[in-house]
Amino acid sequence: MATDPGKQASHASFRTPRRLLLYRFIEEHRWILPLPSVVTGVTLIVLSSRDSRPLWVWLSVILMAATGFIWGYGTRALRRMYPRWPRLQHFRRREYASVWDTLSLSRNLASEAATGFSDEKTIRGRGQEIVDSLIELAQIGSDDAVLEIGCGIGRVGVMLAPHCRSWTGADISSNMLAHAAARLGDLANIRLVRLSTVGLGEFADQSFDVVYSTNVFAHLEHADRWRYVQEAFRVLHLGGRLCIDNVDLEGDAGWAGFSRDLSTTRHEESTPYAPRPSTAAELTTYLRRAGFGKISAHHRPPLVIATGIKLNEQNR
Ligand SMILES: C[S@@+](CC[C@H](N)C(=O)[O-])C[C@H]1O[C@@H](n2cnc3c(N)ncnc32)[C@H](O)[C@@H]1O
Repeated sequence: MATDPGKQASHASFRTPRRLLLYRFIEEHRWILPLPSVVTGVTLIVLSSRDSRPLWVWLSVILMAATGFIWGYGTRALRRMYPRWPRLQHFRRREYASVWDTLSLSRNLASEAATGFSDEKTIRGRGQEIVDSLIELAQIGSDDAVLEIGCGIGRVGVMLAPHCRSWTGADISSNMLAHAAARLGDLANIRLVRLSTVGLGEFADQSFDVVYSTNVFAHLEHADRWRYVQEAFRVLHLGGRLCIDNVDLEGDAGWAGFSRDLSTTRHEESTPYAPRPSTAAELTTYLRRAGFGKISAHHRPPLVIATGIKLNEQNR
């Protein structure tokens, strides 16, 4: 189903689910749990230095014990309900929306799941490298309407939007899009769209000049990688460019990452999002079969990046 992209929800419509608000608040203000213990501790010191009446001292000691219990119990309960990396073994890889919504329960988790980092400086630094590479490989210019498949928290969009006419971030996870909305703020030429399923059914034929996807294909089943390439061909104008990447199984850095992942708990047997690399042959085959021309593979460790142009049949 193709709909008028102008009618898609704007980024402002993505709100954090209510059930997450308390957890997010405590996660982002971690000082709240130890605060009562610290306050009673200080009170105890002040009182005992000024007035050593046993009533005050005992009261402070009891309060300290009670607040310490709340601190310890609260931390333990939160950890049990929301472990650092949620256990996702009960999901299959293809339950993308559930998997990625769970991985983005809080802002910090979402940043780490989407980018591998949680500190803003590193996220921006890596984001800039991706933007430079996209501008170079997909020849992005100020007249281009650009679509990102699997935009996550919008780390690329926020830096790419000033270089193009419009930037649309599409993602299957509404939690990720809620974090992206907060990050992208009031940028005028951006739009966030939730994908209801694998594919780009929310977008009309020939509505973009550039489609790209970065750090996403590793998490998809092969059939779904192929589906997005086919769909990208449909939504691109003639002359439009596609740029996709994945961990490069053929390169030393990609291979090292692949071997390392096999030995950690984020192994693909146990987690539905564990990365699965590609080869240049796999990605370029999808582009060729979908009808793209001028196809190239670029080895940029640890990634392999495939690019192609939608040409009319005579020019392929
Ligand atoms: C590792 S993050 C990368 C985010 C972003 N591209 C970046 O590099 O900052 C993967 C993103 O793909 C999204 N995703 C996962 N499966 C998807 C699917 N089938 N269709 C669309 N997006 C998907 C996730 O929600 C997540 O935001």
